[in-house]
Amino acid sequence: MTEPAATALQGDPPPKTPGSTPATSPVGAPVSVSGNPLRDPRDRRLPRVPEPCALVVFGVTGDLARKKLLPGIYDLANRGLLPPDFVLLGFARRDWGDGEFEDLARKSAQEYARTAWNEEVWKRLAGNIKFVPGSFDDNEAFDTLCETLDELRASHGIKGNAAFYLSIPPSMFPVVLEQMERTGMASNKQSGGWRRVVVEKPFGHDLESALELNRLVDKVFTPQDVFRIDHYLGKETVQNIMALRFANQLFEPVWNSNYVDSVQFTMAEDGGIGGRAAFYDATGAARDVLQNHLLQLLALTAMEEPVEFSPEAIRTEKIKVLRAISLPDNLAEYAIRGQYDQGWLAGERSVGYRAEKDIKPDSKTETYVAVRLGIETRRWAGVPFYIRTGKRLPRRVTEIGVLFKKAPHLPFSRTDTEELGHNQLVIRVQPDEGVTLKFGSKVPGTAMEVRDVAMDFLYGEAFTEASPEAYERLILDVLIGDATLFPRNDEVEASWRVIDPLEDFWAGQEPYLYRAGEWGPKEADEMLARDGRVWRRP
Ligand code: BG6
Repeated sequence: MTEPAATALQGDPPPKTPGSTPATSPVGAPVSVSGNPLRDPRDRRLPRVPEPCALVVFGVTGDLARKKLLPGIYDLANRGLLPPDFVLLGFARRDWGDGEFEDLARKSAQEYARTAWNEEVWKRLAGNIKFVPGSFDDNEAFDTLCETLDELRASHGIKGNAAFYLSIPPSMFPVVLEQMERTGMASNKQSGGWRRVVVEKPFGHDLESALELNRLVDKVFTPQDVFRIDHYLGKETVQNIMALRFANQLFEPVWNSNYVDSVQFTMAEDGGIGGRAAFYDATGAARDVLQNHLLQLLALTAMEEPVEFSPEAIRTEKIKVLRAISLPDNLAEYAIRGQYDQGWLAGERSVGYRAEKDIKPDSKTETYVAVRLGIETRRWAGVPFYIRTGKRLPRRVTEIGVLFKKAPHLPFSRTDTEELGHNQLVIRVQPDEGVTLKFGSKVPGTAMEVRDVAMDFLYGEAFTEASPEAYERLILDVLIGDATLFPRNDEVEASWRVIDPLEDFWAGQEPYLYRAGEWGPKEADEMLARDGRVWRRP
């Protein structure tokens, strides 16, 4: 991670670091950070505060903006992490003025923000909320946006600094990017400050479209100014994979094929497809979450130690893993696709996927995937990486289970010793964020009876404060210019190289059905059973 932009100790005068804001009056902080009563007590170092800038959100009336982006911006303001005169600029096809947009932003923040409501903070933020109405093919609207940014340079001292968040359907990317190119809005040189773009997933639909998208974005923005959001990387526990592995001596020596039997990734959701039928039906689970979130988790779990904690060093290690991924020879047995059928969840009847609103009754789209991948490196050769994800599973849980080989010999009496499982290190990404270590232990009593037990680390118990929301963290990183937690274009491409052959194999096939409320189709269990293993029960 790059050094924090502003790192004076509490009580010190505000620093004058080049490229950072003197932390004098960030939005939400009354005057100085050191005297900021709203400051998050977790930030023992002075918080990283971006330079004065504007954040332009395209598609600001959409679900993502309302549920995640606007609340995340409020949370940042509430923690005193936005710069003075930070400007939030919404762009959408609504006949709105600044007031209507402010209303929407207020409601979103009140409903979805993580931190408590503070009217004072809101008033300061709301004073700098602007709206530009228009459609994406409307030249005039983009000219107005451009002029607005120019005016803000003088009125708000944003020095031309602006980040553009594309919270829009991928089909609209080319249009918006072309407008930015036409108006010169994307140019650092022309603006006199920095210009960055944030691209939401999906990054394409396959390798070819991802290459095309990358080509388009790179034509308009320089690569270091492109931030591809994979919100899993903004989750505290996902970042903790690196801390766990590289800040400790304990795990790395056994983190390889000599000691690891297999690794299991589970991303289970109890929810269905919500109101996203059209998107989901054209996408499916593999493209929706395997290509990005899950392969990123795999890359962080399997990568070598980066030479330094910098964006390029970390991305360089991740890409090596992604390129070393191998698919099984027998896809029919080791790449299982499922679709939820009707069933029961939490005592309620749940309809099948094909009966969901706006889903075709003969849809073959998968809502569940389980695959076995390999990583062809010296460290991991021969270790299976099992990944599964699905909707309408019994509960929402994401975890990584590293299962170690069994002890080669047990000197205890067979009659006193239960069938011991594998030693396991389980990283719980969500909920109940934490880490569990499973190992055999003596049962109290006179006999030498051994049984599996669990040792738990829970974020909620070890730390008093709640983790920031992923989007809160990632928006701040964009404004600071820290790209550590954003996949690079070659990572995206390498991931599609894994997904494309799977999609080709599955094309036209019926997915296996599973009942809503169950852990996926039986074929996924059979896949592990074939290897003499079972899925962990999260
Ligand atoms: C999104 C997917 O990227 O991640 C959704 O498009 C999925 O289908 C969501 O539900 C899960 O995110 P989280 O943070 O709730 O685990």
